[in-house]
Amino acid sequence: MSSTLITGIGSLVSNDPDLGSGPLGLLADAAVVVEQGRIAWVGPAAAAPDATDQVFDAAGRAVIPGFVDSHSHLVFAGDRTAEFNARMSGRAYTAGGIRTTVAATRAATDAELDANVARYVREALRQGTTVIECKSGYGLTVEDEARALRIAARHTDEVTYLGAHVVAPEFADDPAGYVDLVTGPMLDACAPHARWVDVFCERGAFDGEQARAVLRAGAERGLTPRIHANQLTEGPGVQLGVELGAASADHCTHLTDADVAALADAADTTVATLLPGAEFSTRARYPDARRLLDAGATVALSTDCNPGSSFTSSVPFCIAVAVREMGMTPDEALWSATAGGAAALRRTDVGRVSVGARADLVLLDAPSHVHLAYRPGVPLVAAVWAAGVRAV
Ligand code: NIG
Ligand code: FE
Repeated sequence: MSSTLITGIGSLVSNDPDLGSGPLGLLADAAVVVEQGRIAWVGPAAAAPDATDQVFDAAGRAVIPGFVDSHSHLVFAGDRTAEFNARMSGRAYTAGGIRTTVAATRAATDAELDANVARYVREALRQGTTVIECKSGYGLTVEDEARALRIAARHTDEVTYLGAHVVAPEFADDPAGYVDLVTGPMLDACAPHARWVDVFCERGAFDGEQARAVLRAGAERGLTPRIHANQLTEGPGVQLGVELGAASADHCTHLTDADVAALADAADTTVATLLPGAEFSTRARYPDARRLLDAGATVALSTDCNPGSSFTSSVPFCIAVAVREMGMTPDEALWSATAGGAAALRRTDVGRVSVGARADLVLLDAPSHVHLAYRPGVPLVAAVWAAGVRAV
């Protein structure tokens, strides 16, 4: 089995405080050995083993762990350009537009949906994302939700059942009937294909009691809960997520002091996942990352890539916005987009560069990770290794 030495790394973010300085475990003049898809060695370049099959010279540039994007909705057809245009002329975002994508997605063939997911996963990879979670939620029938999950599972292990995205149009007059479907026959068809269960807990989608029923039913079928919480308004989502031991509460834009305290208390269980692409694309107020970090919450940063509220697959873009608009330092944003995402997916094998971890590495055309925020919009990803294989 071939081994590769990546040497000449000017600045390495390991996210392993035992390896280097600060929470990022920063190492200057570093090297990494990759073997069988894993990190076999990491340390000062001067001490690196030299008996590898291949050598790659990073020429003084920065290497970081691959981004872990723990929140996306990639199984969809069509786009919502007209809705975006209307918003940029002053119209507010509502969850109502989701139904436009539901109609387009139901009408698409399996091959079309598969090609779309492949395209967006590849787009994300080119921007440094080596793990991406993917939700259903644009099918809203038993067959269409199960199909979305089957297609997602061809592209990622991190598959999330979001039958409770909005009430399906057929159940507009019977939301309770829709919750029965989501927690009954639809769950039966979907549970075998998913790892996670999610619900959009929001006015216009599902209230606290409905969300609780959805997450509990999913948990009984072995799916771990995560929740779209407090995106558009304050509400019960965050506290419900914490109460049910959800892996993450996502969005966290409108938080009370009690919500922040709950997330801080649950820092080892429930990650606060911030999705600034959504506020960017809906012209809304950004979540206050500083408030969450100062309270002691664990924060992840992800794209929420979807055709309605956040049509970006770019974690570097989210990092730049989080630093400029949400009170994060470049170090905090980088951690949240790598180790934070891994925590939100309860993974210890990704989001870090230490011995035994999966060899997911990103080489930046920059001397340090700080440039991701300092040089917004510039394509800095020069190379990507996914599980040790050069992918970009
Ligand atoms: O996370 N908030 C709910 N779901 C998506 C938006 C989906 C859409 O508008 O199509 C989100 O922002
Ligand atoms: Fe989302």
